[in-house]
Amino acid sequence: MSKPFPPRAGGFLALVMIVLLTFPATQPLHAKTLSTTAPTLAPFEAAPLSIGVSWYPEQWPESQWEADLALMRRAGVSVVRLGEFAWARLEPRDGEFDFGWIDRAVALAGRHGIRVVLGTPTAAPPVWLTEAHPDVLRVNEDGSVEGHGERRQFSFASATYRRYTVRIAGEMARRYGRNPDVVGWQIDNEIGVPSFDREAKARWARWLTARYGTVEELNRRWTTDYWSQRYQRFDQVPLKSKGPQNPALLLDFKRFASFLWAEYVDEQAAAIRTHADRRQFVTTNSTAWNNNFDQYLVHRGLDLAAWDDYVPNGRPDWTANALHHDVVRGYRQRNFWIMETQPGRVDWGALNRSLDPGQTRELAWQAVGRGADAILYWQWRSALNGQEQYHGTLVGPDGQPMPVFDEIARTAREMAAMSRWLKDTQPEKAEVALLYSQESRWAIEAERHSRDYDPVATITDWYRPFADDGYRVDVLPPDADLAGYRLVVAPNLNILSGDTAERLKAYVERGGHLVLGPRSGMKDGDNALWPMRQPGPLGTSLGGRVGYYYPLDGPVAMSAIFGDTTAHIWGEVLEPVADDTKVLGRFGSDQGWLSGQPALLRRKVGRGSIAYLGAILDQQGQGRFTRWMITEAAVPRPLMTPVDGVEFMTRARGAERFIIAVNHGETAKRISLPAGAGWLHSDDVQGDMLRPHGVALAHVKHGTR
Ligand code: GAL
Repeated sequence: MSKPFPPRAGGFLALVMIVLLTFPATQPLHAKTLSTTAPTLAPFEAAPLSIGVSWYPEQWPESQWEADLALMRRAGVSVVRLGEFAWARLEPRDGEFDFGWIDRAVALAGRHGIRVVLGTPTAAPPVWLTEAHPDVLRVNEDGSVEGHGERRQFSFASATYRRYTVRIAGEMARRYGRNPDVVGWQIDNEIGVPSFDREAKARWARWLTARYGTVEELNRRWTTDYWSQRYQRFDQVPLKSKGPQNPALLLDFKRFASFLWAEYVDEQAAAIRTHADRRQFVTTNSTAWNNNFDQYLVHRGLDLAAWDDYVPNGRPDWTANALHHDVVRGYRQRNFWIMETQPGRVDWGALNRSLDPGQTRELAWQAVGRGADAILYWQWRSALNGQEQYHGTLVGPDGQPMPVFDEIARTAREMAAMSRWLKDTQPEKAEVALLYSQESRWAIEAERHSRDYDPVATITDWYRPFADDGYRVDVLPPDADLAGYRLVVAPNLNILSGDTAERLKAYVERGGHLVLGPRSGMKDGDNALWPMRQPGPLGTSLGGRVGYYYPLDGPVAMSAIFGDTTAHIWGEVLEPVADDTKVLGRFGSDQGWLSGQPALLRRKVGRGSIAYLGAILDQQGQGRFTRWMITEAAVPRPLMTPVDGVEFMTRARGAERFIIAVNHGETAKRISLPAGAGWLHSDDVQGDMLRPHGVALAHVKHGTR
C-alpha cells in the first residue's frame, strides 16, 4: 500500500488549483497545435491476428477464473482486455493500491497462453474519489451534475481528476509495463462526453487566450458586432456546444473539447510510457463516427487506433461498416484493432436483434480485410448484476457456451491458421483518397440548412459506389499527404483553410484529379464565410463558383456527361468564369432557380483537373458519376471482378497480396481468382461458388496484376 496522493484538498492543493485556473500554463497550451501530423513513434510489437474478449475477473469469484480461461482457450481466445472499469478494486482507498487480484488474473491468463491488454480504469471513478472531490463530477450543459452508479461521471477538465488518472495509470504501468503477458494499454474507455463545469469554463478562457492572443482579435474573427456579441474579456465568452450561437464559437468549442481530450489521453499515455516497454502499444477505443472530438488529433500520440464496432439492430450495412473501418485506419494510417464487437447482439439499441448465424464471422473477416489485426468481443460472460444483463456474450451466466461460441471459435481457428500469411500485411494502399474533414462535419451539423442534409450520409453516399465496385479508398484528413493518389474526392469540404487550398492546388498541378462535392469551400478556418463565394480559395483554380444554393424538398432532374439523374436534398447553381472551365452537367428546366443551370464544372489545371458537383445525387446517379471519375482519373481496375454482395479486400506485404472474400448474401456466388492466385483457405468454396455468408482467402504471388 503506498502513500495517499494527492494530499486531501488542503491549503497547498487549493493554492495550486487557484494558480492553475488563474494563469495560463508556463508552457503555452496552444503550443500543442491542432496539426494532425503524426510523430514518429517507436515500434510496438505487431500482433498476429488475434481473437479476444473483454474479461472482468473482478466480477467473479477467483475459483471460477480457471474454468473461464480454459474455455476461452477452447474458443481460440488469445487476448483479453481487462481492468477498464475496475478502479474501485484497484485503488480501494485513496492511494492504497490492491494489485494482488489483477496480478493473479494476468498470470493465470498468461499460463493459458492468453495475452492481456490493460485498460486504465478512469472511465469509472470510485465513490471515495467523487465524494472527497465533488468538483471532479461532470456537469452537463443544462447545469445538472452526474452522480455515482453510472460511468463517465467525471469532468475532462478537472485537474484533480487528471492527477488521479495519471497516478493510477502510472502505478499500473510501473507494475505491468515490463510484464511479458501484457501486450498493450487502452486508455480510459470510449472518451468523449464534455463537461461544462467551472474548471472547464476557466480552461476555455485560457484556450481562447492562447488561440487569439487578444480579445479584439477574437471579436474581429468571430464578427461579434453581430447581435452585440462583442466581448471585453475572454472569460465572458460562454462555453456552449450548441446554438443558437456564433458559428465560430461552436467550431471552437469542438476544437477546445478535442484539445482537452487529446491532453487527457496524452497525460495517461506519458504516465504509462514512463514505465512501459515500447513493445507494449498504447491506444484508446473510440465509438463509430464519434463526433465529440477530433479523432486525428487524439490519435496523434497513440500507437494504434482501436474502435468498437457494433450493429445494434443486427442488420449490418456492410458498406457503411467498411467505410468506418477505413475511417479508423485513417486516424494513424496504419492497421488498427477492433477493441469491442458484439457476440451476436447488443443491449443498448432500440431493438437489439441478433446478427444471423455466420454474420459474426463475416464481421470479423471484414475487419481484418480492412486492416484490423485483432477482434475482441464484448464480453466473455455477463455479470450477474449491473446494467448490461441482456448483452450478447460467448458464455452464459452459467459459464457454458452460448450458440455463437462455436462460430467465434471457428473464426479464431481460421485466424490462427491465416496469421502466418497475413502477419505484417496491411490493406493495400488505395488509388483513391476520400477527405474526411471533421471540422466541415461540425460546421455543417451546426447549420444544416436542411433537416435532410447529413454530412456523414453524404460521405457514405460518395464512398458506397467505389466500395461496391471493389475500389479501395483511403479516408484521410484534409491536411494529409496526397502524393500518389490518382483521385481525391471531398464530398462536403465546407471548411477550407487557405493552407489546405494551397495543398490541394499543388496536388492538382502535379497531376492529381480533385473532385469537390456540394457545400465545399464555403468557410475559412474560423467558420466565417469566404467573401469570394464557394469554393473560396479554390475558385480561381476551378475557374468557377457557386452563384446560388438552397435545399431541395423533392427530386430535381439533372443531365450530365455521365447520364441523366436526379438531384435531391441540395442544389447549387454553378457559374463558370474561366473560358476553359467546362460545364459537364445541368439541372433540368422548370426547376426554380436551378432551371437549366450548371450543376457540374470541370477544369484541367496543370497536369491534373479539378471538378465541382453542386448537388447530392440519387444512388444510381452517384454510381455513374463515380464511374466517370474513375475513368477520368484513370484509376486502375481492381484485382477482383466485382460480384454483387461479395466484398473483396486485399492486404499486402511488398509485392505479395492476399485476397479476402466475404459473401454477405443469402445465396452462393461465383467468383474467379485472377491469374497467378491460389486459395489459402477455401472451406466455403465449392467449385467456384462461395457459400452464403462464406469467407475465403487467396494468395497472389509476386508481381501479378
Ligand atoms: C461499449 C462499452 C462497453 C460496453 C459495450 C456494450 O460502448 O465500451 O463497456 O458497454 O458498449 O455494447
